[in-house]
Amino acid sequence: MKIGLILFVFLIIGFIYGYDWTPVDQVLENAVKEKAFPGCTALVGSSEGVIYAKPFGYYTYGLPAPVTHTNPAVQMDTMYDLASLTKVVATTTAVMQFYQRGELDLNTKLIDPKLLGEKYNNNGKDQITVRNLLLHNAGFPPDPVPDYWNKTFGCPEAQKYYPPEDFNCRAKIYSSVMTQTLIYPTGSKYIYSDLSMITMMYVVGKLAHDLKYITPEDLDPICVANSSINVNDLNGLEQCYYEAYVRIFVLSPLNTQRTMFRPNVSLWGDCSPTENDTWFRHQVIEGFVHDGNAYIMGGISGHAGLFSISQDLGYLMEKLVFAPEDSNYVNKTTVELFTTIYNETQSSRALGWDTNLENYYCGDLSQKTFCHTGFTGTSICADPTRKLYAILLTARVYPTRENNLIRKVRTQFGTAVQQVFDQDEKNN
Ligand SMILES: *[C@@H]1O[C@H](CO)[C@@H](O)[C@H](O)[C@H]1NC(C)=O
Ligand SMILES: *[C@@H]1O[C@H](CO)[C@@H](O)[C@H](O)[C@H]1NC(C)=O
Ligand SMILES: *[C@@H]1O[C@H](CO)[C@@H](O)[C@H](O)[C@H]1NC(C)=O
Ligand SMILES: *[C@@H]1O[C@H](CO)[C@@H](O)[C@H](O)[C@H]1NC(C)=O
Ligand SMILES: *[C@@H]1O[C@H](CO)[C@@H](O)[C@H](O)[C@H]1NC(C)=O
Ligand SMILES: *[C@@H]1O[C@H](CO)[C@@H](O)[C@H](O)[C@H]1NC(C)=O
Repeated sequence: MKIGLILFVFLIIGFIYGYDWTPVDQVLENAVKEKAFPGCTALVGSSEGVIYAKPFGYYTYGLPAPVTHTNPAVQMDTMYDLASLTKVVATTTAVMQFYQRGELDLNTKLIDPKLLGEKYNNNGKDQITVRNLLLHNAGFPPDPVPDYWNKTFGCPEAQKYYPPEDFNCRAKIYSSVMTQTLIYPTGSKYIYSDLSMITMMYVVGKLAHDLKYITPEDLDPICVANSSINVNDLNGLEQCYYEAYVRIFVLSPLNTQRTMFRPNVSLWGDCSPTENDTWFRHQVIEGFVHDGNAYIMGGISGHAGLFSISQDLGYLMEKLVFAPEDSNYVNKTTVELFTTIYNETQSSRALGWDTNLENYYCGDLSQKTFCHTGFTGTSICADPTRKLYAILLTARVYPTRENNLIRKVRTQFGTAVQQVFDQDEKNN
């Protein structure tokens, strides 16, 4: 009798939420089996809330992970290094907020005294606007040359065999961003560049400071250690104002539980390990940022550095996909502006966000899907036509970045999510 009742309840739930997620499970189970990555968490949300959330696999392919000395199974609260998802989750959301409040016009030039000012006015950078940074068409090479972590750049810590993650190279890196050279005329073409969002970090930090969203008491003490605050010339300390702005105005309103730059040592064992770095840090990376430039910057940057879990990213996607017109966080008009393709002739990019033009890496989700990936193996796809978002967090770079099976898995995952979702729409 009781069992009959339970079955009946299951049938009713099955009828209302009639998704059969087998195709999605199969894509991710196969991915682990084929060693596209050792483990992952996946989460899908729609107007019904979270409709799929599942962990797969382990931290490694069998070897003990560096911090726990065991090989834990991935849980939903396993933290992943987001890499370039930092660009959209942290930096772009912050820019959206300044834009929406009328505090940042996207056509403002970076040499404007309200932004980076005269010290940026060199090497042909006088035409670059905020919009150029968001579109990755400012004129930058893909990465700094040489990279900030490269010995030849000259950060003292980078000369060491096990370089520490600290902020001692802040002024040198800031000065290098200010005097950065261009490799093509501003606006003329698209080259995806970490320098776009490293530069944007200083813009966000400067605004957060000047408009008094952040005061010195809000700053992370570790970020400002060894620095005296000169209010007229932050000289790179914008980095700390950026971190505090993201923490207080982007993440805190979402009630995120496990999203942060520089996770404390006590959390390192909860992070999925990334690469076996044999040329810079000389260890298997777990708990501190994989990206070499973000690392030598102290773990905080506009292009990489954030760690997170799928549920936390779901809270953000909820705000973006279902933004009401009157939201103070980011409203519908703002979201549409930042997530709609800008110039299809030039690139698939929206502002900060990318799009799934020509069914790029979100598979058969709509071409209007706004999306981004992270080098470590992370991705977000949000389909505004279906009101559906899909998050996949992996550490595909474990133990080596040479493994690119993730490309195939990303499109398979997007397509499987689309099929399951559309199948259910048909059934109802
Ligand atoms: C470091 O920078 C130098 C000079 O740009 C370059 O020749 C070298 O290949 C770089 N090293 C690495 C490991 O990328
Ligand atoms: C402050 O400077 C000391 C000495 O140079 C260094 O050991 C420490 O790592 C620095 N702290 C930070 C947070 O950068
Ligand atoms: C960071 O981790 C250390 C070591 O587990 C612990 O002693 C310390 O309280 C933690 N700090 C914070 C802010 O959680
Ligand atoms: C990392 O690389 C080193 C050097 O190639 C190798 O000896 C070590 O076994 C590797 N560790 C893992 C966990 O892959
Ligand atoms: C929504 O944001 C736009 C800027 O994108 C702004 O102009 C508008 O006033 C905002 N709407 C409301 C109701 O606040
Ligand atoms: C769009 O991109 C093309 C190719 O880069 C460029 O020629 C054109 O001027 C751009 N249009 C606008 C409105 O920016």
